[in-house]
Amino acid sequence: MTRTPLMAGNWKMNLDHLEAVATVQKLAWTLDDAKHSYGDVEVVVCPPFTDLRSVQTLVEADKLGVKYAAQDVSKHTHGAYTGEISAKMLAKLGCAYTVVGHSERREYHGESDALVNEKVRALCAEGITAIVCVGEPLEIRKAGEHVAYTLKQVRDCLADLDDNHLAQVVIAYEPVWAIGTGEVATADDAQEVIGAIRGLVVEMYSAEIADSMRILYGGSVKSSNVAELMAKPDVDGALVGGASLDPVEFAKICRFREHVI
Ligand code: PGA
Repeated sequence: MTRTPLMAGNWKMNLDHLEAVATVQKLAWTLDDAKHSYGDVEVVVCPPFTDLRSVQTLVEADKLGVKYAAQDVSKHTHGAYTGEISAKMLAKLGCAYTVVGHSERREYHGESDALVNEKVRALCAEGITAIVCVGEPLEIRKAGEHVAYTLKQVRDCLADLDDNHLAQVVIAYEPVWAIGTGEVATADDAQEVIGAIRGLVVEMYSAEIADSMRILYGGSVKSSNVAELMAKPDVDGALVGGASLDPVEFAKICRFREHVI
């Protein structure tokens, strides 16, 4: 099974809607989007909620190949939940993907694996692919318990999903100590955990689902280290934070196949 590589740029709380339009335009232009010369790589940007409508308008008007995603979603479908955004609203805006369970949501908003599981279900119900983030903090890595810790997160975030829901899930392994720190996990570190995640999905669901599921690495990915990470058999793409704010750098990341390792 060949899995389509996925490069997702998580802008976090950066770039307003005007900056978003300029950034996506420059990204598409740099990627030479009209010719899709970056091959089969799926390119996704994850702007803040307030930018999504503007990005949708641009992508539709210029028929860009770049896709877009939200950074979070409510577990509720609708109602009296001040400040929340539903999966249905995101589907209406044409979001193909949505990030859930990012370590910053877990740390600053107390999000649990059980809540992430509910958010995945909410997205699946609307046909949106969840990018489910997992990964260990530094003290767990130092104790050598990173694989067990991360697998438990995956088990709990994906608990009791139907097979057709699973087909709509992407996992992003993001060791917390590597996020925004410049401290990138080695390609072997990434492969160790991502390979173990794929093994767990075989156990929980089936070899077929595990084989088709894309599992990304995230944490200080740049154009200078992406090719080495992508050379690993189980690494199917990257969730890129800081480096995705620069469209030229992010385009270089998307063109990882052209890099020499
Ligand atoms: P970073 O962020 O690339 O800036 O380390 C990754 C992420 O948080 O998704």
